[in-house]
Amino acid sequence: MKFKCKLCLIYSFLIFRIPLITSVTTPLPPTIESTIEFTVTDSGTTEEGDKVEMPRVPLTEQVMDHNIRMSDVPDVDPEATNVPDSSLDRNRVLRDVAYFIRAHKFHDYDRRYYKSAEEATCRLYEEFPKPGLRSLHWEVRKHCEASFIECLKYLERIVRLTALRREDDTVTIVREQKWSTANNTEQILAAQRDCQIAQRRDNLVAAPFQGPIERFQWRTTVSYYMCWYTMLGAPELATFGEPCDNHANCLDEYGVHNKDPRADDTKPYACALYSFCPDHCCPMKHIRYMKDCYQSQNNPCYAENQPAHRKCTLNRDENRDFQALRANQINVSCECHRRGYEWSSRFGLCVDVNECVRGTHNCSRHNGENCLNLPGHYGCICRLGYVYNSETRQCVHSPEIDRALRICAKETKAAKAKSLFAEIAKTITRSAESRYACYGVNLPLILIVLTVHFYVFLI
Ligand SMILES: *[C@@H]1O[C@H](CO)[C@@H](O)[C@H](O)[C@H]1NC(C)=O
Ligand SMILES: *[C@@H]1O[C@H](CO)[C@@H](O)[C@H](O)[C@H]1NC(C)=O
Ligand SMILES: *[C@@H]1O[C@H](CO)[C@@H](O)[C@H](O)[C@H]1NC(C)=O
Repeated sequence: MKFKCKLCLIYSFLIFRIPLITSVTTPLPPTIESTIEFTVTDSGTTEEGDKVEMPRVPLTEQVMDHNIRMSDVPDVDPEATNVPDSSLDRNRVLRDVAYFIRAHKFHDYDRRYYKSAEEATCRLYEEFPKPGLRSLHWEVRKHCEASFIECLKYLERIVRLTALRREDDTVTIVREQKWSTANNTEQILAAQRDCQIAQRRDNLVAAPFQGPIERFQWRTTVSYYMCWYTMLGAPELATFGEPCDNHANCLDEYGVHNKDPRADDTKPYACALYSFCPDHCCPMKHIRYMKDCYQSQNNPCYAENQPAHRKCTLNRDENRDFQALRANQINVSCECHRRGYEWSSRFGLCVDVNECVRGTHNCSRHNGENCLNLPGHYGCICRLGYVYNSETRQCVHSPEIDRALRICAKETKAAKAKSLFAEIAKTITRSAESRYACYGVNLPLILIVLTVHFYVFLI
């Protein structure tokens, strides 16, 4: 035993010390640590590479100073804010703002990355810009965070400064004057000419904004807030008081009414959703019937379901998180044809409802039952200590099982404790033995070995 230990010490010096010294000068073979280091730095460099490959177009935030002030627009002045609410025709203001945001939703594109609508890979009626705005337009944020009414008043002030306003759009004029194409051709053409001139001016100058990029940031921020207020159910947004079925585009190929069923003002919040929110159920510019949506492959419910069950619905209640909205995490639901399943927008498929967690089961703990979740349904099983009585069809308490369980529990506890003691005892014995063997008695031997080692090292 003693001799073995001496040998082991010599080994440890000769075998481990010497390679350790040489290892300092010669390159190390790859070790786990170095491989990890390599992979870490590798992924680091690829990330850097990704960053470099990002589009080189400056972001809105880089182009714009955070503290810019729109020259034409006064700051919130108390005079303007104290206008009694009764003088504010909320419905008209809402229609004006919605008109301006529809022009954005249906015709604008992500100005940060693209130079034309044709280049853009994703349209604003499909989803909010991706990636989302890094910073919201400061002024919109200031007013719209204050309150819904404050927000409306501010938006109204800005929208009035744009070139093409809702009341000057050919569609609005034709509707209000009740003109017909047969009897009022001349007047319609004149109105259309004016409308298109104003539209061009907006496209060129983008007043009252500093340019198209700021207008993009402004309108995107407004759509975030107005979509959010729609989800929250601001009562003013429930109906607009007139159809909103146009793309805010003068008289275009869709006519005076584009007859999009999603723009039906008789349905609560339909116009607000149509104007302010991208449509995740039906990411299409124009549809004639709802079934056009359901039978489209863009419908998130298309792949999972049979033709008759592809209805996609948006529950406003499930979409009240402002940050989630900005990030396009809009929750929609699909039908699930199997019973006991429900749509999960997180996973994009039908998942089993856990009746036990949701508490929709009728198992009675009091009667000795436990709930067991099963695919599509649930079952009631007898709790530990109970057995099923097939005659009464109930779980009944069983004293024998209880007793057996109690004994079993005691035994296992005792057995565990015993083996633990044995283990501890063994460990203690082992360590005592080794210390005694190596350091207690053989100190002179160790010294000899050390001397030999240094001698070898010096040579
Ligand atoms: C055109 O005008 C005539 C006479 O003023 C009227 O009878 C007719 O109904 C109008 N047509 C339309 C489509 O409004
Ligand atoms: C959608 O649902 C998820 C999970 O419940 C939630 O975290 C998220 O905030 C919801 N989205 C919105 C826009 O509220
Ligand atoms: C529990 O509900 C199921 C249906 O879900 C029903 O068949 C059963 O009779 C109910 N049991 C009790 C005890 O109410």
